[in-house]
Amino acid sequence: MARKFFVGGNFKMNGSVSSVTEIVDNLNKAKLDPNVEVVIAPSALYLLLVREHAKKEIGVAAQNVFDKPNGAFTGEISVQHLKDSGIDWAILGHSERRTILGESDEVVASKTKYATENGVSVIWCCGESLEQREAGKTLEVIANQIAALKAKISDWSKIVIAYEPIWAIGTGKVATTEQAQEVHASIREWLAKNVSQSVADETRILYGGSVSEKNCKDLSQQKDIDGFLVGGASLKPAFVDIINSKL
Ligand code: G3P
Repeated sequence: MARKFFVGGNFKMNGSVSSVTEIVDNLNKAKLDPNVEVVIAPSALYLLLVREHAKKEIGVAAQNVFDKPNGAFTGEISVQHLKDSGIDWAILGHSERRTILGESDEVVASKTKYATENGVSVIWCCGESLEQREAGKTLEVIANQIAALKAKISDWSKIVIAYEPIWAIGTGKVATTEQAQEVHASIREWLAKNVSQSVADETRILYGGSVSEKNCKDLSQQKDIDGFLVGGASLKPAFVDIINSKL
């Protein structure tokens, strides 16, 4: 089965009512490659605004979700809230949540399990720090992160993996096509060996980290790169060029 190219836009904690509305207006008007699945992730307060405003072909993702049903969990967002608001996706395990907010592999896996079992698809992120890369530990770090996920997940059909080397996020320092392809291929190999060949063949693996309209074409040609998770550039008109990188 061919993997549909996927481009996610992670707005992080950015934007305003007017700028987010403008981004959505631009996307609604743009000619987007119909062979690409597009999902945008505004901050929580703008989820409903974006869902109501964006054309239906554009998916919307939360940047986090809790692993419990509605209840006494002050400040959290539930899967039920997302479903009720027409939000079908969540980004989980982003390195900013892992490092700044202290989310462990297990917490991320538990949230991913709860979300996917309750009808919300997940863009699950992994990636190594510069120190880990320089110590030659990249593949080991990522294998450990995925192993923690595998320990909790049986249905992979609602998961898209995003490989985001921490040293490339927001730094303008993009991984080379070879570096990205090497990690993507190793993730696919890990899935084939430890989950199944069909999960390895069908799971989309995105690259994230300083993706721009300038570097997206080369990256998109790599055999195991099935799309992007874009931060900074998703707030700009150039996001359309990244979505259309295969054209
Ligand atoms: O989730 C996307 C991200 O972390 C990459 O951010 O700004 O480097 O594209 P950026």
